[in-house]
Amino acid sequence: MRLKGRIALITGSASGIGRATAKLFAEEGAKVALADLDREGGKSAVEEIRRAGGQALFRKTDVASEKQIRAVVAAVAKEWGGLDILVNNAAAFVFGTVEEATEADWDRVLGVNVKGYAFCAKYAAREMRKRGGGSIVNLASISAFIAQPAFVPYNTSKGAVLQLTRCLAYDLAADHIRVNCVCPGAIDTPATMRHARSVGLTKEELVNQLKPMHLIKRMADPREVAHAILFLASDEASFITATPLMVDGGYTAH
Ligand SMILES: NC(=O)c1ccc[n+]([C@@H]2O[C@H](COP(=O)([O-])OP(=O)(O)OC[C@H]3O[C@@H](n4cnc5c(N)ncnc54)[C@H](O)[C@@H]3O)[C@@H](O)[C@H]2O)c1
Repeated sequence: MRLKGRIALITGSASGIGRATAKLFAEEGAKVALADLDREGGKSAVEEIRRAGGQALFRKTDVASEKQIRAVVAAVAKEWGGLDILVNNAAAFVFGTVEEATEADWDRVLGVNVKGYAFCAKYAAREMRKRGGGSIVNLASISAFIAQPAFVPYNTSKGAVLQLTRCLAYDLAADHIRVNCVCPGAIDTPATMRHARSVGLTKEELVNQLKPMHLIKRMADPREVAHAILFLASDEASFITATPLMVDGGYTAH
């Protein structure tokens, strides 16, 4: 078990990649705190983990709120005595051109994907320091590296996640806190399906469009990203910090 005895907080863990990561971390022996806006999804994920013999709790949390972030980190530390791992995974999926994006769109996408990640790191780092170190894994994306049509707010936020990762890694290294990010390509999650619907495509049409863009010609299962997050969170990555790990089936190689 690679995370035996570790305490982990995963945001956006009611669905998709976050949920798959919570399940995998619990299988690897971690106590897992799930934080999400979606109470139903979060509770069902916790039940699933407990049924499989794992330890988990859920707190309804909006990561756009510093107050709620502070509260969830405090609740986890109170319940289990500290925090070792943070996975910043929750995201606002706000797409469009610069002319389409409203001020509210920018506030939402940067509030969740950038400010939210920074405040989670702030409060998590305080707890990790008390335990002599820890690991933070941020969800960036291939969107941190490439431009896509009418993806301005989302891709800007993911570019910021990449730089946030490096800057946090710099400042927290002395406290033995490693900070890395994973950069997924197209993953088969509810968010991807919502995007397909919003641009008038069926799942099959979207998959056919995305497949050729990956050297491995398919979309990935969320668990394939969870394994990369697990690696970075675990001691197996003990000399890795400030690194973006591509989990993109080779998308960015061409
Ligand atoms: N799906 C992909 O193809 C893909 C590709 C690259 C990167 N990513 C990144 O992976 C991460 C997970 O994406 P996913 O596809 O699993 O999405 P998803 O929509 O399946 O899950 C996201 C979860 O985040 C929660 N959430 C949203 N806003 C929140 C907030 N303010 N506070 C708390 N929780 C909130 C949602 O309720 C949901 O449960 C995101 O950071 C996303 O940008 C996804």
